[in-house]
Amino acid sequence: MVDYIVTVYTGDLAFAGTFNNVHIKLVGTDGVSNRTWLLGLKGPLSFYKGAVSSFTVTCPVSIGKLILIEIDKKPHFIFPEDNWFPAKVEVKSPEGDTYNFPIYHWITDSEVHLFKEGKALRVFEDDNQPGKEIRELEILQRGKDYRWDVYLEGIPHCMRSEGPSDLPYEVQFSYTKEIEFDYTAVTGMAELELEKLFQSTKNWPDMDSIHRVLSSKRTKISDYVQEHWKEDAFFGYQFLNGVNPMLIQRCSVLPKNFPVTDDMVSLGGQHTLADEMEKGNIFLCDYKRLDGLKTNNINGKKQYLMAPLVLLHKTPDDQLVPIAIQLKQTPADDNPIFCPTDSEYDWLTAKIFVRSADFNEHELNVHLLRTHLLAEVFAVSLLRNVPMVHPLYKLLVPHTRYTLQINNLARKNLISRDGVFTKFAASGGEGMRTLMKRSLSSVTYRSLCIPDDIADRGLENVPNFYYRDDGLKLWEIIHSFVQGVLSFYYKNDTEVQKDSELQKWILDIFEHGFLSQVGTGIPESFTTVAELVKFVTMVIFTCSGQHSAVNAGQYDYGGWMPNTPITLERPPPTTKGTTSETTMLKTFPDVNTTVHGMAVVWLLSKQSTDSVHLGKYPEKLFSEKKPRKLIEDFQRDLHELSEAITVRNVDLEVPYTYLDPKVVENSVAL
Ligand code: FE2
Repeated sequence: MVDYIVTVYTGDLAFAGTFNNVHIKLVGTDGVSNRTWLLGLKGPLSFYKGAVSSFTVTCPVSIGKLILIEIDKKPHFIFPEDNWFPAKVEVKSPEGDTYNFPIYHWITDSEVHLFKEGKALRVFEDDNQPGKEIRELEILQRGKDYRWDVYLEGIPHCMRSEGPSDLPYEVQFSYTKEIEFDYTAVTGMAELELEKLFQSTKNWPDMDSIHRVLSSKRTKISDYVQEHWKEDAFFGYQFLNGVNPMLIQRCSVLPKNFPVTDDMVSLGGQHTLADEMEKGNIFLCDYKRLDGLKTNNINGKKQYLMAPLVLLHKTPDDQLVPIAIQLKQTPADDNPIFCPTDSEYDWLTAKIFVRSADFNEHELNVHLLRTHLLAEVFAVSLLRNVPMVHPLYKLLVPHTRYTLQINNLARKNLISRDGVFTKFAASGGEGMRTLMKRSLSSVTYRSLCIPDDIADRGLENVPNFYYRDDGLKLWEIIHSFVQGVLSFYYKNDTEVQKDSELQKWILDIFEHGFLSQVGTGIPESFTTVAELVKFVTMVIFTCSGQHSAVNAGQYDYGGWMPNTPITLERPPPTTKGTTSETTMLKTFPDVNTTVHGMAVVWLLSKQSTDSVHLGKYPEKLFSEKKPRKLIEDFQRDLHELSEAITVRNVDLEVPYTYLDPKVVENSVAL
């Protein structure tokens, strides 16, 4: 007789333990063990939360190299069926070898569940019969559990489900996240102590009243924004380091529909616009996607959303200041080009219309579409096409955590018929849907890869551009990690080409994420290891750093409503000299609209206490030494970047933290 020592690790998370009876069967190359009841000295506490318990499984002779284990649990006669979250199982063979079976899945029924040994295997090297069968069965089941759905024609497809509780258990929020995160504006309102205001459909009477509503929850940056929101330099700064660093681009030729002349702008000294464009000192933000969108009707009032053009100048002292703003796309007498030399309120009103346009562009395109919806596509394609034993699954699944549920909640509570955006944003309703469809055509592969994106927008040399500085470093660190891991598994391009699971993953992304639009530049298949490495780098960067850059600062920059109005309820001035503080207050959203907007950006900026930060892999999915070492190197590089960002921020008037690895989460989780 020979003994196999089986050690079972139960996960250390809320309600992970079970009092049910657990059985195991070992499957090897030369035979199988009996199904054995794991009865240990600890009795029913053997599978308690965080428990590590060892058992002996005896076989008449050795069963060879272990391929997989079969696990099931049955209710005890006293204890009813309960859910169990085994983390992993280790088996020491009589030959002295240790086999690792990563699980990290909830077992919620009495069925038999199969788990393969942890060494990563691609489809063409999974050559034993039981191994092949379990691989095929797993993909078959996943194809049933994870199905594509069309929420809205013309935008990336999503996961089919009736609601968050209908999602497979393994991708739902943890108990901790669930109780902390009630994704409704009412919760946010209560936390901000604004419940009394959420039904007031009045205008703001004065600036002091707006000051008061921000007083219950403030951040250092929201205080700074409140103090500096009117300043030109801060207005310009936000295009680089605010929540939407994605629109600004270098301007070398003025757009035909933006006829700014030298007489209108003051560039200091004798410089002309042409000179300054030549030198690379002129920048443009063009909100053309918003042109002609149908706007909302809130509290019985028509709302206004402009599609502005903004020209900015990099001054000799390295500030980026706006020099001209045209609020509508078509030049006309009733569409004046506003300049800093106009009256205080004309210029300020023009900037407020730009900031409100930016809110709508940022939330629906830059944030929702370009990070949340794409992250869901990457996740669903992975879960449908790639089995747990595949190296790509092990590499990417930590970057999908909570994404399916958060997006489900966003569809239900933000953009549905009764969603907060639908009811309170300027573009809410039909405009919002049109904007998302228009946005997809601007999502090119190059624009998702920060080194290409910065080059394409001509932003390599803009001073004080921390999104770019930190983002490029983060990209490089992720790239180096991904390259290490994938080149360990894929020794040459042929191996990439013949990996049918990998090819199905990218094809599903091309078809369901980018709707088979070849013009996006998204690959339909992978030919080389280098292509694969770049794409996987983009996936991890999008789900982690990019999402953080456009998500984490939402309350910092949007809590003070005048800096980021969710909507505006008066049309912009058609001639100069007609504005005042009174017209500005009447243009701002009503009290209830304002506080709904504040509540949402508050909730969307709040990390859960069980968040997992970039590079932390609490689930040890890789069994081989090399990828484990690469994870350690990755964590070291991220730590060094974090330290460097902290040191850099000491001297900054407004610290830029959104790409600091200790702020960035592994996945799109809020
Ligand atoms: Fe988000």
